[in-house]
Amino acid sequence: MSQKIEQIRGEFEAALEAVLDIAGLEALRLEYLSKKGKVASLMSELRNIPNEEKKSFGQKVNELKALVEQRLNARREELEAAAEQALIDATESYDDSLPAIEQVGSYHPITLVQRELEQIFLSMGFTVEDYLEVVDDFHCFEALNIPKHHPARDMQDTYYLDNGQLLKTHTSAAQNAIMKKYGAPLRAVFPGRCFRNESTDASHENTFFQMEGIMIDKDISISNLIYFMKTMLSEVFHKDVTVRLRPGFFPFVEPGFELDIKCLICGGDGCPSCKNSGWLELCPCGMIHPNVLRYGGIDPEEYSGFAFGLGLTRLAMMKYGIKDIRVFNKGSLKANSQFNAE
Ligand code: DAH
Repeated sequence: MSQKIEQIRGEFEAALEAVLDIAGLEALRLEYLSKKGKVASLMSELRNIPNEEKKSFGQKVNELKALVEQRLNARREELEAAAEQALIDATESYDDSLPAIEQVGSYHPITLVQRELEQIFLSMGFTVEDYLEVVDDFHCFEALNIPKHHPARDMQDTYYLDNGQLLKTHTSAAQNAIMKKYGAPLRAVFPGRCFRNESTDASHENTFFQMEGIMIDKDISISNLIYFMKTMLSEVFHKDVTVRLRPGFFPFVEPGFELDIKCLICGGDGCPSCKNSGWLELCPCGMIHPNVLRYGGIDPEEYSGFAFGLGLTRLAMMKYGIKDIRVFNKGSLKANSQFNAE
């Protein structure tokens, strides 16, 4: 009879080796350990065994039962661990330092427009410069040919610190430092945050962004200005734009202009977006005033240049169809996550 026990044990070991999954393991468990299973059927043999052998036979069957249980459990643990590892392998790109999938991050619309412009200007040989937000009166006004008590200051009221410094009202405030840093010839753009003491509404903000550009070299003329602005704007709007210049006054340029582009929506026929004029005012610009060059250490007899002050915030509003300027500083994830680089 002991032989029979050994035989069943051998069969069980072989069958266990062949099991590949939990379902197969469960079937094996039933085959051996259920009420009518192979181990129980051995017990029913007990009555055919001589009395003196009953005890040792019963012990052996019990040992087999314990062994089968223990081997099944061990195999179950092995199979469960393998299944878990397979799951981990299948999702191998998981990285818990990444943001949650439901809240995919995106850049702020101003950043998107700024980076796009930087690329365009870099491709035209300009450098991209950074500058301060807290500046002094000289850089924000004096060096730009806006002396104390000049009426042009009225339009640029800002926030003053106790030490006399102020939050810069325009990116033009960096012109002097950049001229001194590089000298002529020079091609640079400098984006930045600007501040004005304004009551806010849908089209006014006390904090906004501009991108200033200057190009200084021998014989720079208004034709160069028009060429660069037209090329840059055609890239931004992905179509050939028509530009025109109107006279405009800014103390730091002479002559000064307002640059308009033909309305992108109606093509110049007139529509609500361009207030029926067919043109959109886009960017003030002009030929750098000799005094400004002189303040920057550049000889106006030898060099000339153009400058422009592009409203990044306004450009982002036009490009993305944003009607209320206050959206930009709201810090609303809901609003900001709608923008993505093209
Ligand atoms: N800094 C001016 C402003 O914020 C804009 C400006 C006008 C910049 C003419 C220029 C320029 O460079 O040439 O109102």
